[in-house]
Amino acid sequence: MANSAKRVVVLVSGSGTNLQALIDRVAADPGYGVEIVAVGADRSGIAGLERAERAGLPTFVTRVRDHATREEWDAELTARVAAYEPDLVVSAGFMKIVGKAFTDRFENRFVNTHPALLPSFPGAHGVRDALAHGVRVTGCTVHFVDNGVDTGPIIAQGVVEVRDEDEEDEGAALHERIKEVERELLVDVVGRLARNGYRIEGRKVRIP
Ligand code: GRF
Repeated sequence: MANSAKRVVVLVSGSGTNLQALIDRVAADPGYGVEIVAVGADRSGIAGLERAERAGLPTFVTRVRDHATREEWDAELTARVAAYEPDLVVSAGFMKIVGKAFTDRFENRFVNTHPALLPSFPGAHGVRDALAHGVRVTGCTVHFVDNGVDTGPIIAQGVVEVRDEDEEDEGAALHERIKEVERELLVDVVGRLARNGYRIEGRKVRIP
């Protein structure tokens, strides 16, 4: 691992295929510029955590229901992540909206991937909502997280065409096609942010 590698904490809630893509690139490419220092989750028993453990990465679980209030959960999650002193935090299918303590602490360092072309179809059902709206193209968006829901500055987007047969399984196959593009996009973006640095000017993210 190059000494200059940027420290990244990845947050997951599910299958963790985006996490796996990051793990695989770190392992395959010593010049990638990223060290995954920990993987956090909001629930236990998920494939994402197993992937992290298989890769020998430290993991932690911070569940909302173990805390009296959402604010306490947010403070705990912030502290757990901060303990790893990350340069970047990546939400890779982390299905919780974090609070202000977290977004303030990791302002301009917290990256999310969303399975729709923002600002269209924010929220937890981006794939389904796009399909229901009748769009002919959708895709994925990698963006910095601000205090809104999927509203922060956009870093990169990938486009996926909708097929007529996507109606049949309520978007499951469409989501899989989006995730193929999304994994590549996320790996590319995280690497470029880590290696090149970046500036955020209003809504524009500049990566030299
Ligand atoms: C991704 O499509 C992400 O954008 C969405 O959930 C999916 C996570 O997939 N919020 P995985 O857990 O990385 O396989």
